[in-house]
Amino acid sequence: MNGETSGGRRDLDGKVVVVTGGSRGIGRSIVLAAVERGARVAFCARSMGEAAQDVHAEAERIGGTGRVFAMAADVSHRGDVDAFVDATLGVWGTIDVLLNNAAIDKDALLLQMPVAEFGTVLGINLTGPFLMSQRVLREFLRHDTPGVIVNIGSIFDRGAPSQTAYSTSKGGLRGLTHAIAEQYGPSGIRANLVVSGLVETELSRHMPAHFRKSVLSNPLARAGGTEEVASAVLLLAGRAGRAMNGATVYASGGIVDANFPG
Ligand SMILES: NC(=O)c1ccc[n+]([C@@H]2O[C@H](COP(=O)([O-])OP(=O)(O)OC[C@H]3O[C@@H](n4cnc5c(N)ncnc54)[C@H](OP(=O)(O)O)[C@@H]3O)[C@@H](O)[C@H]2O)c1
Repeated sequence: MNGETSGGRRDLDGKVVVVTGGSRGIGRSIVLAAVERGARVAFCARSMGEAAQDVHAEAERIGGTGRVFAMAADVSHRGDVDAFVDATLGVWGTIDVLLNNAAIDKDALLLQMPVAEFGTVLGINLTGPFLMSQRVLREFLRHDTPGVIVNIGSIFDRGAPSQTAYSTSKGGLRGLTHAIAEQYGPSGIRANLVVSGLVETELSRHMPAHFRKSVLSNPLARAGGTEEVASAVLLLAGRAGRAMNGATVYASGGIVDANFPG
């Protein structure tokens, strides 16, 4: 096996990879792993504070100077999305891969959930990938790029108690992924979904104990690592995933649905 044909070390050599939410957690690992595999990476987050600067510095340490571009952008705002994509094109000239990773989890039971909060979660977790995909797909089509989109889903995507907005957003993301795969597959563009199980990050920090226990009852009986989810994402993004379109890959230790009956 070598990097030419497999998910080897230089699988993304020369590719331009765009990552949303790259400043911490799973996104951080995706940025660093993509640079390690030879990519030039543009990432965004709403804040370009210490965490984002640290990712930038670490990516340059791994890949060398000039291999990473970072910018503050909120994926739920079309203006920010356009500015981020325009700036990326200004720096790298092209985009080959879009990894829709940014998300939040603000949740409550349906009757306790203010509609504004529901809208905020949907805006970031679902409208964000829609806006990013719409904008980047136009670039793929304009330049005849055999581009790739990977969305990051969740085992909560069929519903889980109190995950009213988060579950709804991740269920929608599954549908969006399939819609892109069907509509643009004929143009050589691929869209796939990586469903993550529990990974200890800022997002999962406030997960109720009974949830945590249930999700950790996966056959591997442990939480995933951010690098493990990143590996699955980059497998689909690179040459090793060339035949995969509309696929769902579970990076969740063997659990596929945390529906918590009863
Ligand atoms: N951790 C888990 O157990 C788990 C399980 C299943 C699926 N996932 C999925 O994995 C992905 C990454 O989650 P994570 O656990 O790594 O979360 P995290 O540690 O909270 O990181 C989220 C990242 O997204 C950014 N972000 C949030 N809102 C944004 C916005 N509106 N625009 C741009 N960037 C934004 C954050 O930076 P700013 O706050 O500065 O914007 C941060 O860089 C998400 O799609 C999540 O749903 C996670």
